[in-house]
Amino acid sequence: MQITYPFNDWYYKDTFSPEDIQTTGLDGFIPVTLPHTNREIPYNYFDETSTMFVSCYRKVFSIPEDWAAKRVFLHFEAVASVADVYLNGFHLGQHKGGYTGFTFELTEDLVIVGDNVLTVKVDSTERDDVPPFGYLIDYLCYGGIYREVELIVCDSAYVTAMHITPQNVLEEEKALEIKLWTDSTVEIADAPLTVTLSKDGEVIRTASFIADIPEGKGTIHIALDDLRDIKLWSVDEPQLYTVKVELDDVVVEERCGFREAKFTVNGFHLNGEKIKLMGLNRHQSYPYVGNAMPKRAQERDAEILKKELGVNIVRTSHYPQSRHFLNRCDELGLLVFEEIPGWQYIGDEEWKDLAVQNVEDMIMEGYNHPSIILWGVRINESDNDFAFYQRTNEKAHEIDPTRPTGGVKYIENADFQEDVFVMNDFDTGKYDRSHLDQNLATGLDHDVPYLISEFAGLWHPSKRWDDSSERVEQALRHAWGHDEVALDDRCCGALAWCAFDYNTHFQFGPGDRICYHGVYDMFRIPKPWASAVYESQKDRHKEPVLVPATIWSNGDNDRGGFLPMYIFSNCDYVEVFINGRFARRLYPYRRWFAGLKHAPMYMDRIPKGLWDKWDWMDSEFVGYVDGEAVIRRRFVRNPVPTSLTVKADDTVLRAQNKEEPYDVTRIIFQTVDQYGNSLDYLMDTITISVDGPAELIGPPTTVMQGGCIAAWIRTTGEKGTVKVCAKTSRLESETVEVLVD
Ligand code: GAL
Repeated sequence: MQITYPFNDWYYKDTFSPEDIQTTGLDGFIPVTLPHTNREIPYNYFDETSTMFVSCYRKVFSIPEDWAAKRVFLHFEAVASVADVYLNGFHLGQHKGGYTGFTFELTEDLVIVGDNVLTVKVDSTERDDVPPFGYLIDYLCYGGIYREVELIVCDSAYVTAMHITPQNVLEEEKALEIKLWTDSTVEIADAPLTVTLSKDGEVIRTASFIADIPEGKGTIHIALDDLRDIKLWSVDEPQLYTVKVELDDVVVEERCGFREAKFTVNGFHLNGEKIKLMGLNRHQSYPYVGNAMPKRAQERDAEILKKELGVNIVRTSHYPQSRHFLNRCDELGLLVFEEIPGWQYIGDEEWKDLAVQNVEDMIMEGYNHPSIILWGVRINESDNDFAFYQRTNEKAHEIDPTRPTGGVKYIENADFQEDVFVMNDFDTGKYDRSHLDQNLATGLDHDVPYLISEFAGLWHPSKRWDDSSERVEQALRHAWGHDEVALDDRCCGALAWCAFDYNTHFQFGPGDRICYHGVYDMFRIPKPWASAVYESQKDRHKEPVLVPATIWSNGDNDRGGFLPMYIFSNCDYVEVFINGRFARRLYPYRRWFAGLKHAPMYMDRIPKGLWDKWDWMDSEFVGYVDGEAVIRRRFVRNPVPTSLTVKADDTVLRAQNKEEPYDVTRIIFQTVDQYGNSLDYLMDTITISVDGPAELIGPPTTVMQGGCIAAWIRTTGEKGTVKVCAKTSRLESETVEVLVD
């Protein structure tokens, strides 16, 4: 048997001293549940060094007596950034690096009768011996045991990993290769091995084998062939299969998908079909708690990207991200470009060894995700280092011969050592459509598979409460960028910087420790116009989108007035009415946006005499698809705060379970006007109350940011109904109820 137990209830203190290794008490410790951040921080203008310290986690536990004959392992999914793990005073080992998992065996040092004491020294300082540290970085790494921990109990044989490789994917008769990594205290000859392939609980094939499990570390290879009627995994239909392997008495289960992903000189192809990659970069951080967010929040980010924004690819900038996020990408059909930790800096040999180790760990962990199509094996935006990148590429190909490598460059003519030339091209998305020709970027006289990994970003950040012209400019840069890439047939696609605003060091952004480069803010609330560039590319028959980029006032644009105005929409055309009278019919402006599937619309004039210049009037925008009016947006002439809306992402949460030590959901509050539109310039206080078995993450009283704000609530372990409501200086919201079950 091999059983995994969640191991997420710990004790914590924000100091560490060498005596903590030998002591067993809990004085000075507080109970915490993982994922945990070493220190919660304010939303902005905090001292980012406040999470950079050494802390101590402790867990006291006893084991059943029949574990005397078992092997016991402790697996951490991620600890930021260096962990030293002690069991009953013995040093089990050290792990350096905050973004990949690691395992220690406890067996030898376990007390069978009585208490065992685990002590973890967590160094969250920016140590320059550990990637990504050594120089400045434009994001924060925070601190603590910020992903989950598991205890694994087995007999002599431990299956440490299973990799599943679909074969002959585009042929009728497909196959699967399965590789198991084993670690056994004894040799087990002729062990029975059964493989079961199933889909949605239905068994498709079972096959039995005999395998020899070697003593020590080893691998076992098996294959399933003649697999028919297998559905492909794709972005529209992400079909997933489950492989269960029973080896002796050990059962391991993993999901996989059958798909062929190819980067070519002629664009990207999935299952033989050319797809233009249109995506965004994602940082995994959240307000107050940094990277420490559990399953549901991780999954939600994938849902935002795929369902709300409609992109087909995400880059996990600049490090491997949570398995919950990646699992959801698999389920949703969201392609992933995953990369090793790093930012512009390459350290000494020891540092490089860790980076190569990161390549190995990232691929070992991520291998089975069909969503992952590219491994980033360079330090983001670093200089050339031929020998180093030869090592990272070789390591990636050794573990995963099926996927190409990339690696994000920003200097022209950089060494091309990977399979895909991946470039941060911040010339993309400018008004003059001057993105680098790939041959200029690569310095090569021939074409190579080419992907743009970043554009926009700091070239035009914006906040919800910025002047319209600023916010329109941010949106246009995203639109221009994807438009010109769509017209470049050789380019595989582009990922803009970035999905969500993120905390950073004072050297970046406007000094308040936030980079406002996102098309959503840190609370994952859309910045309506930049996000609409993406939303408006979705299928108009499934989801009509109509977002006039205006706050509908007579004086917010440069030089006053409300024109020109862009409208982000996937409708065939949009009719504009002012004061109830027809003003214009607008069509997609294809002359300016020939590449995007749904070009933005543009209005630079309206007929004269519709209304008196200064007496501002209501307007209405009506979007038509196939001749029918399918969507309307109305704007009021004299907006005033009319109601405080409240919406929970989820109305049912799970109390503690195996997968989720605690659950979270986000509650969004928005002050809207008479027609339900946001009041982007409203700055008002808001006090949020939470009643029931959940607590608020962040302060209860804060300031709405441009008319809205969100807060996550986290479950406390008990079941029941949570009631959440809020009050601003002028309005009170209704109460939203969330059931914790
Ligand atoms: C890039 C970098 C990103 C972010 C971005 C801002 O150079 O890779 O991490 O800093 O700039 O535009």
